[in-house]
Amino acid sequence: MKYFLDSAKLDEIKEAYNTFGIDGVTTNPRHIMNSGKPFLTAISDIAAWIKEEGLEGYEKFPVSVEIDPHLDDADEMVAAARKISAICSNFVIKIPSTLAGVTAARRLEKEGIRTNVTLVFSPAQALLPAKNGSLFVSPFIGWKEANGEDCRQYIQDIVTIYKNYGFYGKTQIICAAVRTGKQFVDCAVAGADIVTAGLDVYKDSIKHPYTRQGMETFQNAWDNTAKE
Ligand code: E4P
Repeated sequence: MKYFLDSAKLDEIKEAYNTFGIDGVTTNPRHIMNSGKPFLTAISDIAAWIKEEGLEGYEKFPVSVEIDPHLDDADEMVAAARKISAICSNFVIKIPSTLAGVTAARRLEKEGIRTNVTLVFSPAQALLPAKNGSLFVSPFIGWKEANGEDCRQYIQDIVTIYKNYGFYGKTQIICAAVRTGKQFVDCAVAGADIVTAGLDVYKDSIKHPYTRQGMETFQNAWDNTAKE
């Protein structure tokens, strides 16, 4: 399962790349706002870093960038997507799972602009992006579980549907808004292609109190053992 960082902050992207070896980045309008930079500056800075690292190309290191979320017309969405896509060959265009959105995504994929259909909250919403050839589909996990829903069956159903019809691996499933280590495990057990989460979520997921306790036990033993 690939790990994407869900952030538009360049320092976090660099840290995650250098420590966890993240496989890509997802952004959204809220992440761009939290970067403290204007939209174009934030995404151009990410594009410049990609070049510095020699990571050009969405196949190598995809970065999802969302179009203006006010747009609800396929022609306008396509036009906005073309502009963003022209900035960097790593950019995959995030399009909401609406009728206009899936229409725009279908057209963009036909002209070679890769898409990530986002804000997906049901298996039914995940089907059309796959039929239309989107590169990614983003079922949101954390938002649903924060709302009291258990997402294990939801993820499993999308994986099963994709396997039933030959979409699995072609339209890659990014489980989004992952908040906990348990959710990472649920995604991996179900067979999700990718998870995307914030840097702190990755850091927390590798902690366990027994690891720290075990280190103390072994440190005591080490200290009470002659070395020669
Ligand atoms: C995914 O691609 C989204 O950017 C993200 O997971 C949205 O949720 P969040 O900003 O609440 O984490």
